Amino acid sequence: MKTIAIAIDGPAASGKGTLAKRVAAEFGLRYLDTGSLYRAAGLATLRADGDPADPVAATKAAETLDIDWFSAGDLRGELAGNAASKVAAIPGVRAALLDYQRRYAAVAPGAVLDGRDIGTVVLPNADVKIFAQADFEVRVARRVAELRAGGQTIIESRVREDMAARDARDSSRSVAPLVPAQDAWILDTSALNADEAFAQAKAYIASKIG
Ligand code: DC
Repeated sequence: MKTIAIAIDGPAASGKGTLAKRVAAEFGLRYLDTGSLYRAAGLATLRADGDPADPVAATKAAETLDIDWFSAGDLRGELAGNAASKVAAIPGVRAALLDYQRRYAAVAPGAVLDGRDIGTVVLPNADVKIFAQADFEVRVARRVAELRAGGQTIIESRVREDMAARDARDSSRSVAPLVPAQDAWILDTSALNADEAFAQAKAYIASKIG
């Protein structure tokens, strides 16, 4: 049986996670949030008293990682997000997590993976590649609302600075930087709500896989 692979990449708060979950449910596919793997690797490094920017400590944490160590709340926090974007720049960490992602996608009936390098590195032969993007200030406002809704007290200027720093690290790293695959369909969600983004993506995916 042929499996279906759908890659959804994009920067933080571009809407890719919400979109990917709905796409997976709609097309009856499994769903993997690959950012949570990097977040878990970042937290595991900190838990072992390591520096997430240290290649030896971070690679060891990724190689021995058990994602079930961390709660969804811990994984979604800003501490995990910032540690994730540091460990994600380390080639040994990316190599340690690559196999897991490919094996996940290969299980029938197939999967939707969201991340930064799914269409370019993890699944270069994906059936569908979507790159979600949105204006910087729109993404900051979404992240602020998301954190406040989760009950966190936050300082907006701090969220803006963290987002800018994370964007810069994700886009400028030498391994698997955040860039759209050449054959990705670009979905700008700046002026779209979640339902509208989903409707556009669903129509595009249906046109590709029937
Ligand atoms: O999507 P997210 O915010 O959960 O991702 C957390 C960090 O992990 C982000 O800074 C970039 C990194 N990441 C990555 O490098 N490659 C992926 N496929 C997914 C996430």
